[in-house]
Amino acid sequence: MTDKPRRLVVVSNRVADFTAKFQTGGLAVALGDALKASHGLWFGWSGEVKKDAASETPKVETVSGLTVATIDLTPEEAEGYYYGYANKCLWPSLHYRLDLAQFNEEHNEIYFNVSARFADALMPLLGPDDLIWINDYHLIPLAAELRDRGCTARIGFFLHTPFPSPEIFAAVPGQKRLGNALMVYDVVGFQTCSDRDNFRRYVAASLDGEHLEGDRLAAQGETTLASAFPIGIDAAAFRKLAESESEKGPVLPDFGEDMKTIIGVDRLDYTKGLPDRLRAFELLLEEFPEHRGKVRLVQIAPPTRETLPVYQTIRKDVERLVGRINGRFGDMRWTPVTYLHRGLPQDVLTRLFRESAVGLVTPLRDGMNLVAKEYIAAQAPQDPGVLVLSRFAGAAEQLREALLVNPHDVNEMARALDRALTMPRQERWARHNRLWQCIETYDLANWRDSFIQSVASSDTEPVNLIPKKQGAA
Ligand code: G6P
Repeated sequence: MTDKPRRLVVVSNRVADFTAKFQTGGLAVALGDALKASHGLWFGWSGEVKKDAASETPKVETVSGLTVATIDLTPEEAEGYYYGYANKCLWPSLHYRLDLAQFNEEHNEIYFNVSARFADALMPLLGPDDLIWINDYHLIPLAAELRDRGCTARIGFFLHTPFPSPEIFAAVPGQKRLGNALMVYDVVGFQTCSDRDNFRRYVAASLDGEHLEGDRLAAQGETTLASAFPIGIDAAAFRKLAESESEKGPVLPDFGEDMKTIIGVDRLDYTKGLPDRLRAFELLLEEFPEHRGKVRLVQIAPPTRETLPVYQTIRKDVERLVGRINGRFGDMRWTPVTYLHRGLPQDVLTRLFRESAVGLVTPLRDGMNLVAKEYIAAQAPQDPGVLVLSRFAGAAEQLREALLVNPHDVNEMARALDRALTMPRQERWARHNRLWQCIETYDLANWRDSFIQSVASSDTEPVNLIPKKQGAA
């Protein structure tokens, strides 16, 4: 244990663009403010692809009070590491979609080699008292590579995606190398207790490991602390922003009390369950005709990983469904679904959340889902909207007072939408109050500080971040 202040070094595949006006969810939003506050170093891929990238030194800049160091990737690296193993194999597998996972041995090798190149570039920038925080599935082997180069700093890893059940993870090609690489970290952080338990079972089943006391695991001659640290948002700041922004009036055409809005905001990713969500909305209009002409679904779906065919397919599916629903139910003055295939600035999103009667967050699987928390934070406390949330979003482990739904079951979702649209104010208020208390307590600073504290002294048990009343999922 040490009380000495340490410099925080965050490593992730993608480094936030601090000049960008808007970012929708994900790692960039979650870590940007946290890093600025700590005057730390953020190291990652520049997003640039260059033929001679392997011979370049990192580009180091000071942006908004923190140091940002980036490296470029060669075309082969971008293809094999980012598009290949990370996004064609690991992303679907971690989201329980082995059917979509593609394995290519060359990509697997490149994935491990990119971690080695990250380690070569990062080592000269590190100091002895740094605390290194590596993020997400792109860079699992990085701690092992840094240790091979003599790094003695404490290193933590946080997985932003789910960790699937061991039966799924054991089927991922290259999984043993990944499992062994995870054991090298001082701390491995997960979004939920369920992810942590899956990892625990995987270590026992596939790495011949054992569960020691508390959250400690041992395998392959290494011990690590594997715990749940559910990521939060800066709830107080978000609420304040929503309050001041709401004075600007509605973003959407104002049809008064007669028109209720359901809002969805998701990267256009197949894990987000958008086709099922649209079918559920269609079913709502079919089965509950009293809502026709009185409800609209606003779906904001910024593009992501567009060069991968599976993302092109999901876009086609979504756009076909939007067209079908609007063609089938719409009339001259009412368009049931408003769909935007682009991101919106945070201030506009905040206003949209506040003026929407229902927040619809129905991923098929999701690490946490911060949109669910942002929707809660944006509500007017005296007259809040209702969150309809997938049971398979990590957020469901904490947000028990949302209307929890099975995102594969369109009938259940349609009924939940009807219930949300007609819920009496007293019930909305009571549910919202408890949800708000949860996100205010377990906010971004709490997540960051608990994780850092845990990495700094991982011989002590971390605080249990899931409220006792709500935690037993
Ligand atoms: C998820 C991942 C992040 C990733 C983000 C955007 O939230 O957990 O690591 O940065 O998606 O995806 P992209 O491939 O565009 O970085």
